[in-house]
Amino acid sequence: MSEILLQIDGREVKAREGMTILEAAQKVGMVIPTLCHHEKLEPYGACRICTVEAEIRGWTKLVAACLYPVEKNLIVRTRSEKIDKTRKMILELLLAHAPDAFELQDLAKEYGADKDRFEKEASFCIHCGLCVRYCNEVKKKNAVGFVDRGTRREISFIPEIASKECWNCKECFPLCPTSALQAAFVLTEALISPPPSFQSKSEE
Ligand code: SF4
Ligand code: FES
Repeated sequence: MSEILLQIDGREVKAREGMTILEAAQKVGMVIPTLCHHEKLEPYGACRICTVEAEIRGWTKLVAACLYPVEKNLIVRTRSEKIDKTRKMILELLLAHAPDAFELQDLAKEYGADKDRFEKEASFCIHCGLCVRYCNEVKKKNAVGFVDRGTRREISFIPEIASKECWNCKECFPLCPTSALQAAFVLTEALISPPPSFQSKSEE
């Protein structure tokens, strides 16, 4: 695979063909914020917090660093007024869903995002898809998935699969940037545990 030379924040960076801007930056220790990226998962491009400026042949555009492939002579800026404004807006929208998420709060401080800018729709899930994709792509179990559409879209464990697979796995838990996943699991556990009255009858 051929080597590609690009520039990130004024620094020359060598990358392999097929790498994304995010991978090229991470390879040399440069930090671009992410919320839906995981190195073991296919790029997803849901959160857009990784937005950077990419300049090629004199044209500049905002792109998602976790999706955009490197190319020869690409000039990338990971911070600028425009980028910071974009990230601030994204964070304000996400904070309306998960105002108490530490990961979002830390980023909000960095980009001056106001957690009260938008009306709260506390669903807690920010639809990063990390839990769903990890269970599907890495564990191949599909114990958790999205249900419903649009603003009502939320994650849900499939009780029949979760009762068999999740109790000794829970590898997706630390991936969730909010508390939505744990909350959904507690609800599922309650659904799959037999009620005490049933238990005592069956134990008799
Ligand atoms: S539950 Fe958490 S990990 Fe899963 S999609 Fe929602 S925010 Fe992401
Ligand atoms: S990390 Fe790139 S879109 Fe979420």
